[in-house]
Amino acid sequence: MRERIRFGLLGCGMVSQFHCDALIHSDEAELAAVADVVEDRAREVAEKYYCEAVSVDELFERDDIDVINVLTPNATHADNAIRVAQAGKHCVVEKPPDMKLSQVDAMAAAFAAAGRKLAICLNVRFRPAIEAMKQACETGRFGKILQGDAYVKWYRPADYYQRAPWLQDRSQGAGVTIQQGIHYIDLLQHLVGPVARVWAEMTNVAHRDVPTVEDTLLATLHFEKGARGVVQASTAFYPGTDIRIEINGTQGTAVMVGERLEMWDFEHEQPGDQEARRIGSAAALTGAGGAADIGYMEHQRVMEDMVAAIREDREPRVTAQSARHTLEIALAMYKSADSGEEVALPLDPSFEL
Ligand SMILES: NC(=O)c1ccc[n+]([C@@H]2O[C@H](COP(=O)([O-])OP(=O)(O)OC[C@H]3O[C@@H](n4cnc5c(N)ncnc54)[C@H](O)[C@@H]3O)[C@@H](O)[C@H]2O)c1
Repeated sequence: MRERIRFGLLGCGMVSQFHCDALIHSDEAELAAVADVVEDRAREVAEKYYCEAVSVDELFERDDIDVINVLTPNATHADNAIRVAQAGKHCVVEKPPDMKLSQVDAMAAAFAAAGRKLAICLNVRFRPAIEAMKQACETGRFGKILQGDAYVKWYRPADYYQRAPWLQDRSQGAGVTIQQGIHYIDLLQHLVGPVARVWAEMTNVAHRDVPTVEDTLLATLHFEKGARGVVQASTAFYPGTDIRIEINGTQGTAVMVGERLEMWDFEHEQPGDQEARRIGSAAALTGAGGAADIGYMEHQRVMEDMVAAIREDREPRVTAQSARHTLEIALAMYKSADSGEEVALPLDPSFEL
């Protein structure tokens, strides 16, 4: 096996800078080549990050590339990833896994058949505060979990939506629910468990120039184990405030603000709790005011987890199966917002927007 696992990027848009920074700062991985259907974009990224720009076909054909990261618009993820599996390579797919559950299933089956690894880039799961909350959930420190909430009161100007046609088309994956909310819907199901029912209301309150998308989501969740939850997500709230994730139980409460544990209080204090209260920096940017206002460290941990999964021949931490449920919850929210009715899960895999 190579000393460093070599990555190629498919898609050189906004998010590619975080994948490039993650890879060039990694001891385990290497950025080999980038490709985009708009070849100038690939050339620009290659010049900035000192790697090769190749055609899309060549990226799939190269024997010296082990992993391809799929960074294309949301509704194209599974088709592109299936091509990666067929080329015999491992794959990191940006969130959401796709826009259709049936496509996620086809993608997972393609990687199982090819014997290659597939990871979904839900990078916020790698945030140290979330890892601490996950461990507390798994070890029962909250007692019975009663409530899991996500508040994503962010701001994006109209030109955020106008920079590419797919960002204005709901079926292609536009809108605050599937674009921004998805990370935090994912965290709630990751922490609290599967969701049984959702109700949602979606509105466009401040982006009149982009009337096709919802810029504000208000949703309630009923988790299978009985807890309730609220997801409030918006790109309309100028200038944007830090994300909040709140978990409340009969024996404890934890609140993450940005990347910091603002509250970490349990009926039974344990060694390590004081350290947990110092996790994260209040100054860190976590996306509240702009799409590029994030660091690359969480993306780097996604890549390094893929490297470890290849070397240890294990599953990556965020599998297609676990991200599938996140997509299912988000799609159920759209279905509920359209019908005005509460929606029970599971959704029919053929459901589409
Ligand atoms: N994890 C995160 O924090 C995060 C942040 C932003 C975006 N994203 C995700 O990253 C993906 C890309 O988002 P973006 O903002 O960079 O979009 P973008 O529109 O800026 O870039 C997409 C790029 O893909 C290219 N492309 C389209 N089809 C292609 C194909 N078949 N082959 C090669 N290139 C192709 C386009 O030409 C474009 O350059 C989306 O899935 C988005 O949800 C994730």
